Amino acid sequence: MLAPMAEISHRGLRELIAEYDRDPVFSPKNEAGGLPPVEYFTEMLSAAALLGGGPFEKWYLDAGPCPGQLVYQLVGAGAEQLERAAAFLDELDCLGIDINMGCAAPAIRRIGAGLAWTGEPAKARALIGRLRSVVKRRRLSVKLRCPLMGPELGAGEDPPRRGSPRRNSPHRGSPQPGEEEQMLEYLIRFCQSLEAEGVQLITLHPRRAGEKFKRPARWDYVERLRRELGIPVAGNGDIGSPAELAARSRGGKAMAGRAAVRQPWIFAAARLFRAGARAPAGGLNLSFDLEKTGLRFLELLARCQPPEFHISRARRFFNYFCENLKWGTHVKNLLNRGESLKDVERAWRGYFAFHPEDRLLILPIPEKNS
Ligand SMILES: Cc1cc2nc3c(=O)[nH]c(=O)nc-3n(C[C@H](O)[C@H](O)[C@H](O)COP(=O)(O)O)c2cc1C
Repeated sequence: MLAPMAEISHRGLRELIAEYDRDPVFSPKNEAGGLPPVEYFTEMLSAAALLGGGPFEKWYLDAGPCPGQLVYQLVGAGAEQLERAAAFLDELDCLGIDINMGCAAPAIRRIGAGLAWTGEPAKARALIGRLRSVVKRRRLSVKLRCPLMGPELGAGEDPPRRGSPRRNSPHRGSPQPGEEEQMLEYLIRFCQSLEAEGVQLITLHPRRAGEKFKRPARWDYVERLRRELGIPVAGNGDIGSPAELAARSRGGKAMAGRAAVRQPWIFAAARLFRAGARAPAGGLNLSFDLEKTGLRFLELLARCQPPEFHISRARRFFNYFCENLKWGTHVKNLLNRGESLKDVERAWRGYFAFHPEDRLLILPIPEKNS
């Protein structure tokens, strides 16, 4: 599953991922125990903007290239607004509709959207009940992170300014004894109540509000939730390679975000690592031309997104894709100075003219995977 990522999970990136997915190089000889088709979550779509019919909505709603594998993610605060937006999406060609109950950005939490729903279990449950009655054709799902409890509840706070004293908040420092267990129990009860109202899939990114990516995701929470719920639970957080995606997919659905930008081939290559897949005798070295991949992304971006979005989306993509390069930070800075896709393309080509040794990324696939 491709994670919903604002300004990243758009059609341009999906096209790039799907090109690898269709490439026969990634078809294992032995198909036993295969991975399901990739699910593409869109970036979060504001229910209010969708209903208001903003000028860019048609781009956000573009379900290509595989509408049957697309999940629209909705974010919003008002149950009525979300209900109307979900009813509208239910009529479109897609796989599912996902409700964002995980976004911890202060601007989102403050209005009662995203993660704020987890602090209002009764309201969240009622919301799902209402959505269930209008989402008749598509799968209804929720994506969340560790829920808000106790002192974390209330309006979202802005992050402290540099140099300002830090408040002693439980989601910033180490958790207090017993707090983690309490939170896990709360999470389970919260998700069980959504299940009772008819949610069909839950994706958990097991980090608390305010926790940065440095702190490892709590995959044991995903395992526990899978045991406690009757519906599928997808795990998300820190998957970094095709081998890891294949391994994480063994216990159920797994979602990758940043790694899918760094390695748009991750879903295709994961198939070669999944249980039962066999690479040719002696293994296989897959090689990826990073320069070409970056240029292909720029082409797809120009084709699939409006000009107003080009430069911001290019920066977002290369922010992660440049991590494949030896001098990635340097080239990222150069690209960030670009004001048009042409500038970005020039800087990208320029890097490889000076560092041709960085062009190919080799991914070894062992002969036997299990
Ligand atoms: C730039 C960026 C934008 C994101 N936007 C969204 C979003 O729109 N909706 C959402 O549910 N999560 C969003 N997330 C969280 C990701 O979906 C995912 O949970 C997180 O990146 C952890 O997965 P990863 O370790 O595979 O990247 C975003 C993350 C990033 C890095």
